[in-house]
Amino acid sequence: MKELKILAVITVFTLITYIGIEPFAHSQMNPHTADANFDYEQEDIDLAKVRIEEAKAALAKAEKALEKNAADENLINAVEGAKKEVEARESDLSAYQELWAQASAIAALEGNAENGAELFAACTACHGLSSQGLESPFDAALSSESYGVVVPDLSLAGAVYDKKFLGALIINPAQALKVTKKFNDENPLPMTPFFGFGEDLNQESADIIAYLQSIAPQNVSGKEVFETACLRCHDVRYDALYSPTEKNALKGYMGSNPPDLSIMIRSRMADYLESFINDPQKKLDGTAMPRVGLTKEHTAQVVSYLEKVGDSKKDERTAIGIGMIIFFTILTFFAYMWKREVWKDLH
Ligand code: HEC
Ligand code: HEC
Repeated sequence: MKELKILAVITVFTLITYIGIEPFAHSQMNPHTADANFDYEQEDIDLAKVRIEEAKAALAKAEKALEKNAADENLINAVEGAKKEVEARESDLSAYQELWAQASAIAALEGNAENGAELFAACTACHGLSSQGLESPFDAALSSESYGVVVPDLSLAGAVYDKKFLGALIINPAQALKVTKKFNDENPLPMTPFFGFGEDLNQESADIIAYLQSIAPQNVSGKEVFETACLRCHDVRYDALYSPTEKNALKGYMGSNPPDLSIMIRSRMADYLESFINDPQKKLDGTAMPRVGLTKEHTAQVVSYLEKVGDSKKDERTAIGIGMIIFFTILTFFAYMWKREVWKDLH
């Protein structure tokens, strides 16, 4: 019986280590931020408020340091910098409030798809719509050279992107993509805002969205979502998907080369990927990756696509694991019987 007690003690400690320590380590490596929120208006306004609070806390800290050492040039500059940061974060909040108020107004209108088909001429200057036989006027090389990135085909856009996000994107792309730190009046984002054809701008935007939704297929696979929303920047070599964008041009545009996503699922959990895609700035303040504005459903599809590619042996591994447990259970039983046999005269 002594052996069984020892076994029980070992089992209990192994379980404590596995269940208690492993999740704890994960939570430390990926500090918790609020969960993904697919109401993008609320998401942006909430995060902007958090950033203001952080900037104010940094300012208070800098001012306290300056109190102790009022003549220090560095500390004076630090306070100035912190004040500017608070102002920048506050103006961010009002920019988002303004943007989303208009995007909500657009989303509340009923769009006219037929009219939208005509207005879409404003977009075909750059974008293709291959399902309608419209090729982009730029090939991959020219698009990389002119914009730093291959302009995406919009055949699936009406399905995969959130409707309200599309409204925000059309009227103010840099703000909707959350890249205003880098792209502004002096350094404009390649995608230009839609200024309309002279009728009501909100109604015209709603018409374009209605058109994109009217031509989008009902069902889109995870891989197709990836091709629409991610492939212009990321490769997935394990699935033989290579971005059409020229690498150096992309690096110039983004400031860093977007990583291959083949095995990203192994270093980042599915939860992390979901909230990173939902709002990259929340997870990685200042990151170059734009917010892409997928719906909740299509974000989940992309993540499970990456899971399938990056961890294709997961099911096999689970099956082998169960086999191993059964094998060792039987082995333990025989070992115990054998031990009893060998030692029976002594006991
Ligand atoms: C001057 C060229 C240009 C015009 C005009 C233009 N776009 Fe774009 N668009 C781009 C580029 C470049 C990108 C890729 C930006 C990036 O990846 O950083 C893009 C990206 C997009 C995306 C993907 C955004 C995402 O979240 O991933 C959508 C949707 C889109 N455009 C819709 C439109 C619509 C609708 C119009 C017309 C109202 C339009 N664009 C007009 C250049 C343009
Ligand atoms: C316009 C280019 C662009 C698009 C489109 C884009 N990404 Fe990225 N992505 C980047 C860049 C640049 C980085 C590197 C960010 C950094 O280092 O700050 C990145 C980083 C990442 C990372 C790594 C995050 C980390 O913690 O290191 C993941 C995961 C990712 N992207 C997923 C996606 C997915 C999924 C999509 C499509 C839904 C997508 N990206 C669309 C440019 C893009």
